[in-house]
Amino acid sequence: MRPDTSTAGSDFVVVANRLPVNKQVGDDGTVTWTRAPGGLVTALAPVFDSQPGAWVGWTGQPDSADDPHVDGIDIHAVPLSAAEVEDYYEGFSNSTLWPLYHDVLVKPEYRADWWDVYITVNRRFAEAASAAAAPGATVWVQDYQLQLVPAMLRELRPDLKIGFFLHIPWPPLELFSQLPWRREIVEGLLGADLIGFHLPGGAQNFLGLTHRLTGLPVSTEPVGVRSNFGTVEVDGRTVQVGSFPISIDSAGVAAQADTAAVRARAAQLRESLGNPRTLLLGVDRLDYTKGIDVRIESLERLFASGRLDPADTVFVQLASPSRENVESYATLRNTVERTVAHINGTYGTVDAPPVRYLLQPVPRAELLAYFVAADVALVTPLRDGMNLVTKEYIACRSDLGGALVLSEFTGAAMELDAAYLMNPYDDAATDDAVVAAATDDDAERRRRMQILRDQVMNNDVDQWARSFLDTLTGK
Ligand code: ADP
Ligand code: F6P
Repeated sequence: MRPDTSTAGSDFVVVANRLPVNKQVGDDGTVTWTRAPGGLVTALAPVFDSQPGAWVGWTGQPDSADDPHVDGIDIHAVPLSAAEVEDYYEGFSNSTLWPLYHDVLVKPEYRADWWDVYITVNRRFAEAASAAAAPGATVWVQDYQLQLVPAMLRELRPDLKIGFFLHIPWPPLELFSQLPWRREIVEGLLGADLIGFHLPGGAQNFLGLTHRLTGLPVSTEPVGVRSNFGTVEVDGRTVQVGSFPISIDSAGVAAQADTAAVRARAAQLRESLGNPRTLLLGVDRLDYTKGIDVRIESLERLFASGRLDPADTVFVQLASPSRENVESYATLRNTVERTVAHINGTYGTVDAPPVRYLLQPVPRAELLAYFVAADVALVTPLRDGMNLVTKEYIACRSDLGGALVLSEFTGAAMELDAAYLMNPYDDAATDDAVVAAATDDDAERRRRMQILRDQVMNNDVDQWARSFLDTLTGK
């Protein structure tokens, strides 16, 4: 039975586009719901364990009347019609904001009809959050799909402490200014008491353009990581603006990767791939921001020039389908699949293609086995707010084996400069980084991995959540 919180409400409420639940339908049609083991729910598990907590979000299904319930979290499903999914999720969120905030890698579409639905859906989330929250509760709104919720919620419930965290990059003024509704977005965010970004640069950009667009007084001192928060003075309130780089459950991932089962599976994977001298790995949602094409094209150049030998190199790309109804994602899929086929056709043999490409989500334990098995992880985004795959790979390498090729255009690069950093727009530099990561001697690779591990193991997602919530609640 779902707890009756209709009168009491919860002291802590997360508002996110998606709910952290998985639906399973048994052979007899019975439906069971389980907590989805995503990063955010893992991060917040201790908070939910210590006090009643609610989560407001969408089930991921259009026109669904599902009312999920799971242990330990009071779930509030926000329904979306099929038309709203098109206009709010695929449209304004992922065809306007996503490309705009990721360096305009794809041309954003600015459509007033999508904007109207974004407002309608944000209002629905704000109303659901208001209904879920106890008097004086702390409400934490997540990400670019819900940037109007803080101001809408403040209007409904001025008694609440409201936080907002942006999981993707905040764009520079020159790009953000393209948005016809730029001022409304900034005003929506300013409904929060604390606005968090991954990087100090994002926080700084936000402060600069807030001043430019609204004329409100903002602080000018540099923002630090989890320190030196910026401020905006609005309607007699002070909004804090800070940098909180997200991370993973480092110890949990490391412990699972160190199990005998995962180690054995990693050895088996290498065996089944023909025990190559170099196993390269990419793991991503199939998204044009991730630079999957960058790494595949580099591989082709390296095979063509003979710097890597296709006879003893295997590249595994694990790609998870994403936003498949958005045209730019379908175009990317065609490009990637054509290039993979081209490389295998040119450099492979029938029984040993050098590229193995999977378009399906891989179970967690299997994914960790790939991380343990890989000699080199290729993380080559053209732009990425953080990139958690990077941190997962590092956490899996307690053996100090493995090397990381990492794009400078990820948030992770700020913290992880002992990686083989590369500029994904520079073909020669990309090729050099891949070759160095694959061929440097063990001592150099271990030296780098030790530094990377110290960073990731000492800065986990619990620290991220705690530092944000402590700042929000003034602890
Ligand atoms: P984003 O949030 O943009 O998708 P991140 O790298 O920050 O990128 O997080 C992606 C998450 O999804 C990671 O936890 C990663 O392990 C997981 N993931 C990505 N691709 C796959 C895949 N093919 N199979 C299973 N999990 C995946
Ligand atoms: O990292 C940005 C993000 O939108 C996350 O909030 C989300 O978990 C992930 O990308 C996947 O996106 P979607 O919910 O659109 O499948």
